Amino acid sequence: MPIKVVLGAQWGDEGKGKLVDILAPEAQLCARAAGGHNAGHSIVAKGVSYSFHLLPSGLINPNCMNFIGSDVPSFFSELKQLEEKGLPNVYDRILVSDRVHINFDLHAAVDGLEEIELGANITVNGPSYSTKAARSGIRLADVFDQELFESKLRRLAHGYKARYGDLLKYDVEEEIERFRGYRTELAKYAIDGLSFMYSAQTSNMNIIIEGANAVMLDLSMGSYPYVTSSNTAISGIIAGLTLNPKAITETIGVVKAYTTRVGAGAFKTEDLEEVGTKLQEVGREWGTSTGRKRRCSVCQHLVVSNLVDTYLDFIDLVVVKHGHMVNYYTALNLTKLDVLDSFETIKIAIAYKDKSTGQELDYYPADHNILDNAEVVYHEMPGWNKPTTNARTYDELPKQAQDYIEYIEKFIGVKVKWIGTGPDREAMITRN
Ligand code: GTP
Repeated sequence: MPIKVVLGAQWGDEGKGKLVDILAPEAQLCARAAGGHNAGHSIVAKGVSYSFHLLPSGLINPNCMNFIGSDVPSFFSELKQLEEKGLPNVYDRILVSDRVHINFDLHAAVDGLEEIELGANITVNGPSYSTKAARSGIRLADVFDQELFESKLRRLAHGYKARYGDLLKYDVEEEIERFRGYRTELAKYAIDGLSFMYSAQTSNMNIIIEGANAVMLDLSMGSYPYVTSSNTAISGIIAGLTLNPKAITETIGVVKAYTTRVGAGAFKTEDLEEVGTKLQEVGREWGTSTGRKRRCSVCQHLVVSNLVDTYLDFIDLVVVKHGHMVNYYTALNLTKLDVLDSFETIKIAIAYKDKSTGQELDYYPADHNILDNAEVVYHEMPGWNKPTTNARTYDELPKQAQDYIEYIEKFIGVKVKWIGTGPDREAMITRN
């Protein structure tokens, strides 16, 4: 029963969608758990660029069934867009677990208010996960019992209204009306996800699981509090899709060849450094879902205070190792190697050094003060300074690029099985 799980190994946008697309032809089922419409994969296939937000990338493969195990925002509009781009039978190849929690406009309105009240960063799905934990969330199964659904939504809205008063701009009756229209349509996709996944796993289906976001955004093991509101690591995938952990044959960490992060917090060196700007331009670093430019920079200091997260420029292997300790990768996919093609020297962050004691930390600490008082220890390697985009085998890569890959492999202790050298499907080297 081959189950392959593809997970982000940094702060997201590593290029997971492309690997899922490449693996999907072998799969009969592609499933997604956790995250909502704020996660975004871009895939370029046969010259057409597809954007996926909520839906699984397996939809590109016409023979692959797709299943979502958590959260249902933007469902219809995204299906429509994919159909308009020419993907066949998308409506017939998607199923949704009736245990998913629905993200309402109410949640979006509350998200903005919580940002002001708590100084928290907008997580898009935060309030939805809060109501789930508070046991007042509304699941897809509830939508089909109109009376129950309406009373639950009114009660939820009433609770938030009591808290935020006129600051909450939300009309519950309007949303109830909208769902009257959705109800029949949604019924076509809703299934008992638990039985579905059980029978898929016990009937030996070839399954690909597409992680959303990434390990450093995991609510429990990420760079808390600058994380998303769900468990994006392997634990969340297992829980969200009721996977049999013993049946997972491969856990693939997707690692970008440098480090970026979209989101809260100023980035002191943002756009000020020549290398950061170059990474941003060459790597076309702006988010699929948000359109926000991703932060990339040469970071001489770790900047962690004042709503600021840790941002590094070139790859940070302490972060990747942290992810491995959480997810136990069996293989890595290094993406965007081509973005480093024109650097004379490549730096690799391998530890954090306490500025006062000189003590080196080889793990990512929970206490941000430790990071604040630390400087990065880099290992430097010569760049390859030539294009890699057309390389189709490992041997065609320049020696310096191979050395870089092998350094990463040795440091993490996991094989780099795939190497991305461009956005196209074809620009991926597979090593056996
Ligand atoms: P999230 O779930 O939001 O974290 O998305 P993701 O990990 O699937 O990444 P996303 O698609 O948002 O971003 C990756 C971007 O990099 C897309 O525009 C891809 O086309 C592009 N990309 C993927 N692999 C490579 C690569 O090897 N080289 C280059 N240059 N671009 C790549």
